[in-house]
Amino acid sequence: MMIELRQIADIDPDSPIPFCDLASPGILVLGTLADSQSLLSSALALEKDSERQMRFVLRNTLTLLRTAEETLETALETASRHARLRTPHPCFTRPSRQEPALFVRPLAITDVDTLVPVFIRAYNGPPWHDAWTEAMARRYLGGLAGNPLARVFGIFDGETLQGGLIAQIKYWWEGTEAFIDELFIDPSHQGRGLGQALLAGAETILMEEGVTALTLLTLRGGAAEGFYRRQRFEAKQELGFMVRVCELQSG
Ligand SMILES: CC(C)(COP(=O)(O)OP(=O)(O)OC[C@H]1O[C@@H](n2cnc3c(N)ncnc32)[C@H](O)[C@@H]1OP(=O)(O)O)[C@@H](O)C(=O)NCCC(=O)NCCS
Repeated sequence: MMIELRQIADIDPDSPIPFCDLASPGILVLGTLADSQSLLSSALALEKDSERQMRFVLRNTLTLLRTAEETLETALETASRHARLRTPHPCFTRPSRQEPALFVRPLAITDVDTLVPVFIRAYNGPPWHDAWTEAMARRYLGGLAGNPLARVFGIFDGETLQGGLIAQIKYWWEGTEAFIDELFIDPSHQGRGLGQALLAGAETILMEEGVTALTLLTLRGGAAEGFYRRQRFEAKQELGFMVRVCELQSG
């Protein structure tokens, strides 16, 4: 069974589109057309023997096709809005062949492994000196990114991934927030404006889905606080982070 998305919509293969990950029915994932096609082919290959699973695949395929149509409409609206404003969408700027450039794009859950080495380099060195192993980092980032309301972004310098941001959408009563779980840039590229560009690119995409505020936790007085203050984040003095170490209760 072969499904050709190109037959229903002429979608830029590099543009992020929401699609349905067959491993997580009902959940829309942001990724490229290639991501959605590779997920679909692997699910079809794995599940072809089971009639029940095949029905599941077909149901999700219908969702995928519907989503692609809706996405195309949204993309056309966005494109015409930017055309009216005569400004290119900052996040979807692609490097030309001659001149590599920075760009931010949403990552699919299948891309999370590519964040692992960058995350480890960012946190195992100064100022944090953590002790992440590859397995720990894969479990941690995979767990965050696997949440249904997680949004994952990467910043690329040409072909190379230089940093990542993972946030969780929260439908708070005052508006929709994105809580930033992680933001990190490869140490060899810190201080070049990439952290700021990744935050701005992710914010632009999140705003398009109705996010009105970004929130996060960071160490007071730590190195990252200065960066966030520079990005106009304010500390809420009335809020405190609380923790209790779990212990066996005697008696
Ligand atoms: C924090 C981090 C994401 C910043 O990314 P970066 O690419 O190095 O930062 P940028 O180059 O984009 O800096 C943007 C601005 O913030 C300022 N800034 C960066 N780090 C800063 C710091 N520690 N204190 C004060 N200002 C800082 C820069 O001077 C720059 O200011 P400018 O606009 O006046 O030029 C990056 O250092 C990192 O990955 N650190 C390790 C992981 C981490 O701590 N993540 C946050 C955990 S909560």
